[in-house]
Amino acid sequence: MWDTWAPDWLARGELAWGKTEPCWGIHQISESEAQLLASFAGGRVIELGCGTGYVSAWLSRLGGSPIGVDNSLGQLSSARQLQNLFGLHFPLVHANAEQLPFADNSFDFAISEYGAAIWCDPYRWIPEAARVLRSGGRLVFLGNSTQLMLSVSEGDGPATTSLRRPLRDMHRMEWDDDPGVEFHLSHGDRIKLLRANGFEIEDLVELYPPAGSSNDHYGFVTMEWAKQWPAEEAWLVRRV
Ligand SMILES: C[S@@+](CC[C@H](N)C(=O)[O-])C[C@H]1O[C@@H](n2cnc3c(N)ncnc32)[C@H](O)[C@@H]1O
Repeated sequence: MWDTWAPDWLARGELAWGKTEPCWGIHQISESEAQLLASFAGGRVIELGCGTGYVSAWLSRLGGSPIGVDNSLGQLSSARQLQNLFGLHFPLVHANAEQLPFADNSFDFAISEYGAAIWCDPYRWIPEAARVLRSGGRLVFLGNSTQLMLSVSEGDGPATTSLRRPLRDMHRMEWDDDPGVEFHLSHGDRIKLLRANGFEIEDLVELYPPAGSSNDHYGFVTMEWAKQWPAEEAWLVRRV
């Protein structure tokens, strides 16, 4: 599916590669406001589901040595084009983030912005992230919030103010209008899973659009909704 979609993500990837400061998620919240990288101190970095690779590019500019992992050759080809355009190169590996081809304890920092974070089964990718991170290593991942996934409509409509599905047993989600499978958990289940894999939770950042934001082009959430409930959330966890 991502091979088919890859061409549509190239322009957005180029814009993100060009940012001088990391900007997160659908409302482009600046790193100085969101503080998702507060614990980042360089070292060996793995991006899980790197897509066009801009998050790895940011972390490289911040002094890290990233490896971008993605299971779509189309997305990796876009990432390579953007590496050439911006003159910044790091390894790109074609692999499934649920089954990483890396040794135990081989990374200092793992990150996923809408990559493995929502497209991989958390009961597979979180144990893998734990395995490849050294003790004390950090994992940061960002995706749609649990609140959003409870309120979003089937089809194209934006999130509503009523609950559209049960929280209980939330896990695998499929949509009528595309062949993708996403994964979203309740906070309770997420915390149990993270702790079972040796992570302590340092923060759960609920992301709201910055003041004056007018970015309203994502059909699944309106600005009015996103100002009242976090449409996105980022988990900041540490491997103990
Ligand atoms: C929305 S993109 C996020 C990446 C990046 N932040 C971006 O926007 O370009 C989702 C990425 O996850 C990748 N992905 C999906 N399933 C994956 C898996 N099992 N292993 C590795 N990557 C996966 C897709 O190929 C896609 O490039």
